[in-house]
Amino acid sequence: MTDFNTIRQYNFPTIIRFGAGAVNELPDHLLKNGLHKPLIVTDPMVSQLGFFKNILDSLTAKSISVEVFSDIHKNPVKTDVLKGGDVFAATGRDSIIGIGGGAAMDVARAIVLRVNHHRDLFDYDDLIGGDQYVTEEVPYFITIPTTSGTGSEVGRSAIISEDDTHRKRILFSPKLLAKIIFADPLLTLELPPFITAATGMDALTHNLEAFLAKGFHPMADGIALEGISLINESIVAAVNKPDLASRSKMMIASLMGAVAFQKGLGVVHSLAHPLSSLLDTHHGLANAVNLPYGIRFNIAGFEDRFIKIAKALQLQEETGEAVVNHLFELNKQIGLPTTLGAIGVKEEHIETLSNLAFADFCHPNNPKPVSREDFKKLYLEAI
Ligand SMILES: NC(=O)c1ccc[n+]([C@@H]2O[C@H](COP(=O)([O-])OP(=O)(O)OC[C@H]3O[C@@H](n4cnc5c(N)ncnc54)[C@H](O)[C@@H]3O)[C@@H](O)[C@H]2O)c1
Ligand SMILES: [Fe+2]
Repeated sequence: MTDFNTIRQYNFPTIIRFGAGAVNELPDHLLKNGLHKPLIVTDPMVSQLGFFKNILDSLTAKSISVEVFSDIHKNPVKTDVLKGGDVFAATGRDSIIGIGGGAAMDVARAIVLRVNHHRDLFDYDDLIGGDQYVTEEVPYFITIPTTSGTGSEVGRSAIISEDDTHRKRILFSPKLLAKIIFADPLLTLELPPFITAATGMDALTHNLEAFLAKGFHPMADGIALEGISLINESIVAAVNKPDLASRSKMMIASLMGAVAFQKGLGVVHSLAHPLSSLLDTHHGLANAVNLPYGIRFNIAGFEDRFIKIAKALQLQEETGEAVVNHLFELNKQIGLPTTLGAIGVKEEHIETLSNLAFADFCHPNNPKPVSREDFKKLYLEAI
């Protein structure tokens, strides 16, 4: 039952410039704001791509000094952030631009924090109340997504792992929100099919879990349902035969997922996170495989929510089971595996995975409680 005597906070993000060619506005935007020396944070792969070089050229053509930092891991670690912070200071930068997928944008955001905050990086961990130490100003921050998945471009947090244990920590503060986002679907035109599929299913998981999450947040719910619908109508085309329309819908829907998940995530993300820590599985792939199993866990008691999801997916049969079957089918259509066994998970991993999943920060927002035993059962079903 919704408690209408409670006061809630709804946060909606910053300026989003969305559309084909939006990134061309970057140089003038910097100059208009008196910024001439950005640190560009990306990953080693993206730094080699044609569009990235074009962005650099467009900046240098306007006499903007660029410094690129791309020395980051696939699942970024603390030393990546410290190195980036040193480069910012040593080269006298005045702003930070994160260009790439969630990994690059998260490192960029963590460097934004690092520049004027010099306690141990993990003192700022949100789960131990770290955002109270985010007291100083932060440099001007811009994000430019090049995958359609995490929605980190509109986020206020950065997920950074410990170097030795690979445990994921969350740095969070509203100050870490980008001042402006240039979301240009043309940057994703060449995204390979597997990355499109995995990151796209991450975005679908965000929208689905946000819609189902506990709490009264009709604004997030509305955004999530439209996000589900957009991904459903474009993900197969984006993977198998991409064009501007499918890439545009995926990009806006991934951003919508991250706006919606301020409401919370749930059991699927808690099943997925330990796979990345323990087996280095890509975040989107881990969600994709766990999604139908985790969502099925939520049907009983929430049938009315599943009718709305089935409508957004335009299913003939408006039931939770039909939604689950559709998700299995979708994974197959976009070439992703449908069992954990197919991505290297073995029965001997399940005990550790279940402990980690139970300790994860996402499932307290799941519409129904999830026990350690539930996690074990779900992993066993999915294997
Ligand atoms: N901040 C958040 O709210 C949040 C939420 C979920 C996950 N994350 C983090 O995000 C990361 C995952 O992000 P992701 O799924 O975007 O993957 P990613 O950033 O790891 O990118 C996946 C791969 O795609 C490549 N790539 C990126 N753009 C490309 C392009 N346009 N063309 C060709 N290749 C391109 C990258 O080089 C990389 O190899 C994880 O580190 C995860 O922890 C953050
Ligand atoms: Fe995610």
